[in-house]
Amino acid sequence: MYPPLVLQSPYLLAPMAGFTTSGVRRLLLGQGAGAASTGLVDAEGLARQSPGSLRRAAREAAPGPQILQLFANQPEILGQAAALAAPLGFQGVELNLGCPAAPLVARGCGGALLGRWPELRALLKVLREASPLPAGIKCRSGQLPGDGQFLILHELAAEAGLDWFCLHPRSLSGAYVEQPDWSLVDRLPAGGPRLWAVGDLRTAAEARAALAAHPGLEAVLIGRAALTLPWIFRLCRGEVAPAPREGAALLAALLRSLVADLDWQEARRLLPGLLGHLGLPADEAAAFRLADRRRLPEWIDLLERQLIAGPPPAITGNPFLR
Ligand SMILES: Cc1cc2nc3c(=O)[nH]c(=O)nc-3n(C[C@H](O)[C@H](O)[C@H](O)COP(=O)(O)O)c2cc1C
Repeated sequence: MYPPLVLQSPYLLAPMAGFTTSGVRRLLLGQGAGAASTGLVDAEGLARQSPGSLRRAAREAAPGPQILQLFANQPEILGQAAALAAPLGFQGVELNLGCPAAPLVARGCGGALLGRWPELRALLKVLREASPLPAGIKCRSGQLPGDGQFLILHELAAEAGLDWFCLHPRSLSGAYVEQPDWSLVDRLPAGGPRLWAVGDLRTAAEARAALAAHPGLEAVLIGRAALTLPWIFRLCRGEVAPAPREGAALLAALLRSLVADLDWQEARRLLPGLLGHLGLPADEAAAFRLADRRRLPEWIDLLERQLIAGPPPAITGNPFLR
């Protein structure tokens, strides 16, 4: 039998497709994240061991638990993929029920499953039974603001015996425009799966306040802020902010992990947005220059200059969503 999921701290790294690669998870677990999830992995691709899905499900040794996040809408395929989580070295497995991205929704996965309760019941049963690892779901509040679908999902998760339930308390239709409604978290009954929540926690102070304000929560997740402030998990634990040079070295390490872990097309699609946001040159050749270890000091100098001028602004919306 596998051990329960033991969180290193109540501040976890949120799954972010394209960004929470194996190297980034290792880096942020090293900074004190309590656990770290992969981005979305296509269960079908993983079940047939496609190179892209295997790369997204890659895991390297890291100082903390790692969760494989899958998307699927067929129980049999979900079962095959979830069964691979333990052999791949993960400590937990999660089904995504909240992604509003068009390609996923068109395939009837992620957020498209909300409201399809019999299908969901079957999927959650398989998720629980196919893997010996602790398992959970991550979802939005519902299809529309105020529809309360998360309460039904929570009931189904409890009925299936899942270990955790993670709520991003804004609706699918609200994308990133609707404000997260953290009061929804307090409507989740105790006594079922462990409760986690995520949404717009931009600083360590906000993360600590969210946890303190919602006593039913075991943990909160931090997504976008971890991409611009990779030391945020240290701050959550009460440590002081790193000096600009150390912060710059951490950011450079995060960017270089992305270049190492992504394929060329993904890097070209995702990196310029993040580089531009950090005030760095975001041209097509930037990924090449990042990959060149000899140029690392240049990147650190550039980042240090930015950090001396002030912390990077928060990422608003999901500028990477297509
Ligand atoms: C670039 C990006 C990719 C994301 N990919 C995923 C994903 O693969 N799976 C998932 O459940 N949520 C995904 N999310 C949602 C985040 O996990 C999180 O719920 C959301 O960003 C709110 O948290 P934040 O305000 O701390 O970023 C993604 C968000 C962003 C910005």
